[in-house]
Amino acid sequence: MSEQPQQLRVAVVVGSTREGRFAPVVTRWIKSHLDQRDDMSVDVVDLAETPLPTVFPAFGQPPAPGTEEALAEVSPRLAAADAFVFVTPEYNHSFPASLKNAIDWHNEQWHAKPIGFVSYGGISGGLRAVEQLRLVMAELHATTIRNTVSLHNAWGLFDEEYAMKDTQSDAAAKTMLDQLAWWAQALRDARNARPYTA
Ligand SMILES: Cc1cc2nc3c(=O)[nH]c(=O)nc-3n(C[C@H](O)[C@H](O)[C@H](O)COP(=O)(O)O)c2cc1C
Repeated sequence: MSEQPQQLRVAVVVGSTREGRFAPVVTRWIKSHLDQRDDMSVDVVDLAETPLPTVFPAFGQPPAPGTEEALAEVSPRLAAADAFVFVTPEYNHSFPASLKNAIDWHNEQWHAKPIGFVSYGGISGGLRAVEQLRLVMAELHATTIRNTVSLHNAWGLFDEEYAMKDTQSDAAAKTMLDQLAWWAQALRDARNARPYTA
């Protein structure tokens, strides 16, 4: 579906860059929910396809060669977004370094925007990753959505063709996206009425 001006632009940020990752299965599923909505358009920002350097320049210094080109693949898309969905696994009771790196390369791109979470992992369903992300994103003037989509032992929730089998997860996705839409609309209206100054 082509983007309509009034649609809320949602960037789905795929946090895992691991070889052999499960992330594409989860991403495809949440994207299918977004694709069904008339009020949202979607841009999948896959950090495995748009790798960012992990060496930051000194304060006030230009970035290393190649950095600007790498950021150009990501930063404008985050800036254009009205809202985000972070797709994150849990690594050692937190979220992956690749996601933190992408967060840290940016600042005002996150400001006054809502973030919904789709997390996955073992028995915890990635909830510990999400709780840590809430702390980080508060520092960046973002609002995190109360209801999360948490896929416990995620591998068992999809069939052989990677279609979601669990109706509760589908219901959780709808609830989270409904809440995300409310905040995205409210904050877009507010940013348009009065630019956010941090
Ligand atoms: C470095 C690493 C640490 C992990 N730590 C946890 C953990 O603390 N809790 C958990 O539930 N799963 C943990 N896992 C399992 C991952 O959640 C699982 O492998 C998931 O598929 C990773 O997402 P990905 O395949 O998209 O990279 C860990 C996996 C890796 C690679």
